[in-house]
Amino acid sequence: MCGIVGFVGNRQAAPILLDGLSKLEYRGYDSAGVAIRNGSEPAKVVKSQGRLRVLAEKTDNGRTLLGTCGIGHTRWATHGEPSKKNAHPHVSGNCTGSGSGDVESEVVGVHNGIIENYKELKEKLLKHGYQFYSQTDTETVIKLVDYYFKKYGDDPVNAIAKTMVRVRGSYALCLMFKSHPGEIWVARKDSPMIIGVADGETYVASDVPAILEYTRQVYYIGNLEIARLVPGEVTFFNLDGDEIRKELSEISWDANSAQLEGYEHFMMKEIHEQPKAITDTLSAVVKDGRIDLSVFGLTEEEVQNLSQITIVGCGSAYHTGVVTQYVMEDLAKIPVRVELASEFRYRTMLLPPNSLVVVVSQSGETADTLEALRQAKEKGIRTLAIVNVMGSSIAREADKVFYTMAGPEIAVATTKAYSAQLIAGYLLSIEFALVRGTISEEKYLEMMGELWALPAKIEKILEDKERIQWFVAKQANVQDVFFIGRGIDYAVCLEGSLKMKEISYVHSEAYAAGELKHGTMSLIEDGTLVIGVVTQKDLFDKTISNMSEVKSRGAYLMGLTTYGHYAIEDTVHFTVYVPKTDEHFTASLSVIPLQLMGYYLSVSRGLDVDKPRNLAKSVTVE
Ligand code: AGP
Repeated sequence: MCGIVGFVGNRQAAPILLDGLSKLEYRGYDSAGVAIRNGSEPAKVVKSQGRLRVLAEKTDNGRTLLGTCGIGHTRWATHGEPSKKNAHPHVSGNCTGSGSGDVESEVVGVHNGIIENYKELKEKLLKHGYQFYSQTDTETVIKLVDYYFKKYGDDPVNAIAKTMVRVRGSYALCLMFKSHPGEIWVARKDSPMIIGVADGETYVASDVPAILEYTRQVYYIGNLEIARLVPGEVTFFNLDGDEIRKELSEISWDANSAQLEGYEHFMMKEIHEQPKAITDTLSAVVKDGRIDLSVFGLTEEEVQNLSQITIVGCGSAYHTGVVTQYVMEDLAKIPVRVELASEFRYRTMLLPPNSLVVVVSQSGETADTLEALRQAKEKGIRTLAIVNVMGSSIAREADKVFYTMAGPEIAVATTKAYSAQLIAGYLLSIEFALVRGTISEEKYLEMMGELWALPAKIEKILEDKERIQWFVAKQANVQDVFFIGRGIDYAVCLEGSLKMKEISYVHSEAYAAGELKHGTMSLIEDGTLVIGVVTQKDLFDKTISNMSEVKSRGAYLMGLTTYGHYAIEDTVHFTVYVPKTDEHFTASLSVIPLQLMGYYLSVSRGLDVDKPRNLAKSVTVE
């Protein structure tokens, strides 16, 4: 969950590393550090606790560190408290003072992931005379590389391969060897890392935005592979030390999409990018008004024979699965189960033979989702991944990938990726429904038309965002919020509630409106804010009556509904209307005011909207 950047070329490395790290700061941010090599001089390591700007100030934005080869890291603590000593890079020797300063170590490196057996390895290294200065698992792995490097004759490939065989866990490792100036060595297992090349320059990063400004030509380093980076060239090796050939891929993302472009926060920018994310996702697969079934990797016969679909994801990705469940079951009449990846992977997976497992992930690197995918594959079940990041682990391992076209998403709280995932779920549902004959051709075309109309409707909601801001300003001191709804409205409540708690730190819960009476209602007292989402005509009266029940116990009610449902004003204190659409797709519209509420509440409380405390964008550890 940390961020890694490396550079080797003809320019000064430190400013490039700091710039790249600033694009990754959302991944982890309790400390940061860089190691820079100037020719054959030993690496100079500088670290600092706190935000990246502390490191930038300390090094005059990298200008005080000379050298054209270097590695950098932003840390999200797993082993060892956030401190300068525990910050990366780590060195194989005895580090001076708190971990900064010139070092004479052979190996210096940064790491993303978790080394599960580091205690046992540390014991072994202590016996061999190594001394440790930090509490991290990373220091152990760096020293282990040093141990094998010295034992087996100064060969980085061999030393790294031997280390990889000994360690258990996940890692993206980025190393420099004192006796190999002008080279960066990398290795990975179950932790993301990409390598970019440009004219005479080579970059490595744990995530695309870090290098997008410099190159879009990338190599994807596979699991249990090693690479040697020199200016403009990369050589790949397997664990046996044999060279592997790889093709370059081109990233289609635009460098500007990872910039704020005048917005105060990435979250607000990404909220406004939702119409484009939807249009781009539709345009990628809908040709002449139709979807080609092969984008989902299934034949008509296979769709007709599907006995079950299991949708797996975490957080918001899971929430889009809940929406898809309602839509798919209603339209295509296929039983759908929606599973939290972290639970699913440790349960007896009952997956019928003619079933499909759909894993949903923005990053394509979420550890639990990746493992759930692997287990489904091991059982011989067909898998489809709905993923935003091209070339990510989930995208590479699934039988088939449906790429959402949201572009880089920087804010920890997902918005545009969520919206694009909903579109993927709708397309899957209406295509399967057509193939299975549960909707007519006419209905299919009508629903397709509705999907294309969603972006303009979202624009319309955004035009009126100040009204939400005004309402939220009045609620700035709210303590608890309850989101209630039925059916798809309940599914969108899950997302609205998550948005609120993750960025504004306000306790909130999403409840199926009919469930309130079974316990939660006791929490309602005078002034408790309850937000009722009511977009489904057939469920309107039912949810309104649940809202009346909480109102009579003192709740302050906000209603979120579609234009036309004006009767809601008889019950609620404040109403937000969204445009009408096919009722299967209302989540795409009703989620927008809920995202805005979370955003404005966070801003009004003076919080760090894009980088909420304790959270990271990609959860690459379980
Ligand atoms: C949502 O705002 C969260 N940041 C989080 O729940 C996220 O959706 C979840 O961690 C899954 O991530 P993924 O889509 O990258 O797999």
